Amino acid sequence: MCGIVGYIGSGLAAPVLLRGLKKLEYRGYDSSGIALSEDNKIKVYKQVGKLDALRNRLEGKEFYATAGIGHTRWATHGRPSNTNAHPHTDCQGRFAVVHNGIIENYLTLKEWLISKGHEFLSETDTEVLPHLIEEFYEGDLMETVIAATRKLEGSYAMVVLSLDEPGRLVAARQDSPLVVGLGDGENFLASDIPALLCHTRKTYILEDGEIADITADGVRVIDQYGRPVDKQIFEVKWEAAQAEKGGFDHFMLKEIHEQPRALKDTLSGRIDPEGARIVLNEIGMTAEQIRNINKIFISACGTAYHAGLVGKHIIEKLVRVPVEIDIASEFRYRNPLVDDKSLVIVVSQSGETADTLAALRESKRKGARTLAVTNVVDSSIAREADDILYTWAGPEIAVASTKAYTTQLTCMYLVALYLAQQRGTLPDTEARSIIKELKKLSDKVKVILDNSHIIDQFVQDYRLSRSAFFIGRGLDYTVAMEGALKLKEISYIHAEAYAAGELKHGTLALIVEGVPVIALATQQELFEKMVSNIKEVKARDATVIALAMSGIKDIEKVADHVLEIPRTHPLLAPVLAVVPLQLLAYRMAVARGCDVDQPRNLAKSVTVE
Ligand code: AGP
Repeated sequence: MCGIVGYIGSGLAAPVLLRGLKKLEYRGYDSSGIALSEDNKIKVYKQVGKLDALRNRLEGKEFYATAGIGHTRWATHGRPSNTNAHPHTDCQGRFAVVHNGIIENYLTLKEWLISKGHEFLSETDTEVLPHLIEEFYEGDLMETVIAATRKLEGSYAMVVLSLDEPGRLVAARQDSPLVVGLGDGENFLASDIPALLCHTRKTYILEDGEIADITADGVRVIDQYGRPVDKQIFEVKWEAAQAEKGGFDHFMLKEIHEQPRALKDTLSGRIDPEGARIVLNEIGMTAEQIRNINKIFISACGTAYHAGLVGKHIIEKLVRVPVEIDIASEFRYRNPLVDDKSLVIVVSQSGETADTLAALRESKRKGARTLAVTNVVDSSIAREADDILYTWAGPEIAVASTKAYTTQLTCMYLVALYLAQQRGTLPDTEARSIIKELKKLSDKVKVILDNSHIIDQFVQDYRLSRSAFFIGRGLDYTVAMEGALKLKEISYIHAEAYAAGELKHGTLALIVEGVPVIALATQQELFEKMVSNIKEVKARDATVIALAMSGIKDIEKVADHVLEIPRTHPLLAPVLAVVPLQLLAYRMAVARGCDVDQPRNLAKSVTVE
């Protein structure tokens, strides 16, 4: 999982590549590099560390190349180092390649290439690519890349720069995203659209198996069988400014504050004017097909999985169909009992997560109907699912997912209400009352964002804590899991989420004086039980911060601090409850001096297994 860029035209390549890489750093940032075709040589500059380290290294140098490629890396094969950084080159330095993905048969290829006399420098799988190209090259780069890709197993988005044909870049895609940006007398390549937006809004989204031949004046695309592909231009509608920080200190904070807008957009056009029915024109299933579903599966990773947990709860409650949920990396290896009566819902912000994509493919293979809940238009998952429900969150740049989660939850409610409506499992009055509350969530999130100062005191008191516990019951437990993940991933505080009733079966042993316990108590019907669990940890001298709906009597008598959220329908509480937890994690990370938007060891988009 990495970010790649390419440029060819009449302008200077280096600044275009560096600007593009900056926009792609969310995909990985342990090293970066560029290759430029200049002075009858391919010049490669690479540097371990974030892109700024490369920029510092290049400062003061003058480049006049008008073609080049660049890469920002998230290490898979080979630790972060200058040698393992991309671009990689062949023995003679005639070809440079940047790559995102994993070449699964690289060891076999490497052995074969070594037997042919090729010399390797790095530990990466990628390095087989320039050597394969060197091995096959007979004067036509496009033909050579076609021949090389036939030898590859695994996933790749790659761009090749060649000394012999400096006026052309050749790019290929299989299971990793790649977009061509169409300019005037210049053309661009990038793993993702934000890297192109300051140059062009006209793009070709490359499909699996496609290979693109790019010169300053044109782009030719062929499919895996060598047949020309008549690509349709995809015009990007969203604003470049949407992908910037917009005055906030971090993307994560900006994205937390974008939630009221994102929630509104996600509901927009999906509720009838009377507020009585859900309108999901994007779901192509007939009423009969919906009635025939006998089991629903949800598969996703990380935060998206936590949204799926809420989905399971809501769908079972409102639709009365059994729902199984799996972490996507586990799903296909357990041979799930999916068949043509199953509906499989995959949830993914990026739409590119390799495990989730694999779960989708496995489900299709088994004959299931598939529905993708995703944020990125035309992502791989969006393209392959039978039906797509977009979360209109807008680009999410911070590694820690926030607005994607709350909009995924919104989609889960929409799906549950829609299926219930089609199957007649929910009385109209109940549907209306949930829909009414659903429409109010956006304003209620605003209220939380405007009244979050109580979190600061807690952050001051506990910023040196080594661990924290999040407890809850029912839906609150699923939100506790998301709260704990947020705190772990950006503040590096060890955090555990527990079903509150489960503590006494082991974890209570870890509760000692002063340990912070965040107790979620938004579910009225479980409230008394939660109070008992809070008392259990208080009896072990933990400090409790309780999260409850406003007006809940006596909660302050059992907890040390109380975080209130506006009242809502209990099924919708996760959307509100998670917001203070996002802010808590964010402020804790800032107080501890952590790199909020780019936490260590992580990357935004996980396109490897
Ligand atoms: C959470 O903050 C993470 N960024 C991570 O868990 C993420 O949700 C997961 O990797 C899935 O990504 P996706 O939604 O793009 O598939």
